[in-house]
Formats: sequence, structure tokens, C-alpha cells
Amino acid sequence: MLKSKKILITGANGLLGQKTTELFRHETQHEVILTDLHENAFESRGFDYFPMDITKKDEVKDAVKKYLPDIIINTAAFTNVDGCETERELSWKVNVDAVKNFIIASRINSSKIIHISTDYVFDGKTGNYSETSKPAPLSYYGKSKLAGENALITSGIDFTIIRTMIIYGTGKNLRPNFAVWLINMLSENNQVKIVDDQFGMPTMVDDLGWALVKIVDLNKSGIYHVCGSEYCSRYEFAVKLAEVFKLNENLIMPVKTGDLNQAAERPMNSSFILLKAETDLGIKPLNVTEGLNLLKIQLGM
Ligand SMILES: NC(=O)c1ccc[n+]([C@@H]2O[C@H](COP(=O)([O-])OP(=O)(O)OC[C@H]3O[C@@H](n4cnc5c(N)ncnc54)[C@H](OP(=O)(O)O)[C@@H]3O)[C@@H](O)[C@H]2O)c1
Repeated sequence: MLKSKKILITGANGLLGQKTTELFRHETQHEVILTDLHENAFESRGFDYFPMDITKKDEVKDAVKKYLPDIIINTAAFTNVDGCETERELSWKVNVDAVKNFIIASRINSSKIIHISTDYVFDGKTGNYSETSKPAPLSYYGKSKLAGENALITSGIDFTIIRTMIIYGTGKNLRPNFAVWLINMLSENNQVKIVDDQFGMPTMVDDLGWALVKIVDLNKSGIYHVCGSEYCSRYEFAVKLAEVFKLNENLIMPVKTGDLNQAAERPMNSSFILLKAETDLGIKPLNVTEGLNLLKIQLGM
């Protein structure tokens, strides 16, 4: 019989935070305590929620002292990749200093930290990255996320880092992720320009949430790559989405990354090798069509 753990989930109002909360609450015996920067996005109040700015060292320390979590799952981050280029100070505070705050606070109760990182720690020149591949971030977002990872790796505390990419899914009051934005645009008959030279493995948020459950239940530490099982360009993903949601794929215009003039440089091919996660965690992430069909059901479309 698994011992029930007390788990503090940060970023609980975000895309991954909401799914993680839902899975731990409904599919496990673990106790969850939730926090995010602002008020609660959930309507039901059958569990603990408190607002907290994770960049504030004392707030983090007080929370850990009060709740004494066995595990801290940190899904909170400054996730706007282009925004990180212009808001460098704030993005560093959230993606690096906050991780250090959790490391310091974790010593109060010997809490384990499970942290979420990104494919943007790689330069995307070769793809097929494993957990031992050498990071070389191109953007400030990637640099800050790598510094957050390194803070954990050198901390001496028990940690797990999950690197993931292109998360899509649904939840309440969320900023639209790529898939949801695309559904909205195509449903309203808007033309969209989608890059056909950026390749990755889009990740249905449910797969990531389940990987977190497995990490906790199997007590796995170290670095794990977790993403969807299919490699495709953003354009190919968009076309499949149009097929699954029966939307007009002629509205999707292929463009090159250079045409978009984005502030942050993107890795062109950041595909992951999933073998470690599949073997250690026993997970089998969805391919694009499976993931989009699940999203369609969840959206009631
Ligand atoms: N989304 C992707 O495609 C993707 C890809 C690779 C890796 N990741 C990583 O996966 C994780 C989860 O991503 P996500 O898409 O679920 O993110 P998200 O939806 O943007 O959620 C992040 C949450 O963190 C909160 N937050 C920001 N600053 C904070 C602060 N100072 N104190 C407390 N909370 C704060 C945000 O609140 P506000 O909304 O109020 O700012 C938001 O609710 C992140 O670590 C991200 O770097 C995401």
C-alpha cells in the first residue's frame, strides 16, 4: 500500500497546474495543497488554496513551515517566451530565484522538489535529445529555465526535473495554448500563419499530469524527458487539428520562423528520446491524433 503524501502544487491555476491538481485529487490518495499568484481558478473549495508570490523568499518559507509538504511540485513559471526577452529581471526571479527559494525552504521538512523544465534548454540543431544531452539554450527563457534546473541539480536535495514541450489541453480561465488558440481562430474563419520549419513533439497535458503521478508513486528522482509520442512541425500539427476538429485547413498558411520576427530565438528541432520515461515510469504518451481527439472530448466539441 502506497504511503499518502502531502503535496504542495505551485502554479495551480495554470494549464499543467490545473491538470496535476485534478489527477492527484481524483486519481490518488495524496493530499494536495494549492498555490498560485492570484486567487483560485477553481469553483469548488474542498481543498486548501492560498495565493503566494513564489519570488518572495519569506512567503515561500512560511508556507513550507505551515504545511510541511513531503513534495513540492513546481509548475509555476514565467512562460511567455518572447516576454522573457524584454522582462528579463522578472523572468529570472520567477524561473530561477523562486526555485532557489523552494530549495532553501525544502530543508525545513526535507521536502522533495519536482520541477518542470523545457525543450528550450536545447539549441534544436540535432533533435533526439536524451536526459544526458548537453543543453545550449538560445533564448532568455531557455537560459532562465536551465539556471533553475542547475540550481536544483547542485542543491544536494532530492529532486526530479521533467523537461517537456508544446503543452496543450484545457482548463478554466486559461490563456489559450497553441491548440486552443488554433481552434478558436479556425472556428471564427480566421486565416493563421503557422511555421513549417519548427519541429517538436506536442504534449497533451494529461500525459504530463500522469507522468507526475508516476514520479510521485514510484518515487523517481533525476531528469526525465516527457512529451507526446509524435514528431511533427507546427504546421503539420495545425493541419491534423483541423482534420480532427473538422475545421477548414485551407485557412492555415505555412510560413518560416524568420517571417515572424519573434523576439526570442526558437530551437528548430527539439525532439526528445522518451525511452527513460517510458521504461522507468511505464507511460505511453499519446500521438497527435489521439491527443487532439481527447481534447475534442474534453471541450465537448
Ligand atoms: N506551455 C508549454 O508549452 C510549456 C512547454 C515546455 C515547458 N513548460 C513548462 O511547464 C510548466 C507549466 O507550464 P504551463 O503552460 O502550465 O504554465 P502556465 O499555464 O503559464 O502556468 C504558470 C502559472 O505560474 C503562475 N506564476 C507566474 N509567476 C508566478 C509567481 N511569481 N508566483 C506564483 N505563481 C506564478 C502563473 O500565474 P499568472 O498566470 O497569474 O502569471 C500561472 O498560473 C512551466 O514550468 C513551463 O516553463 C511549458
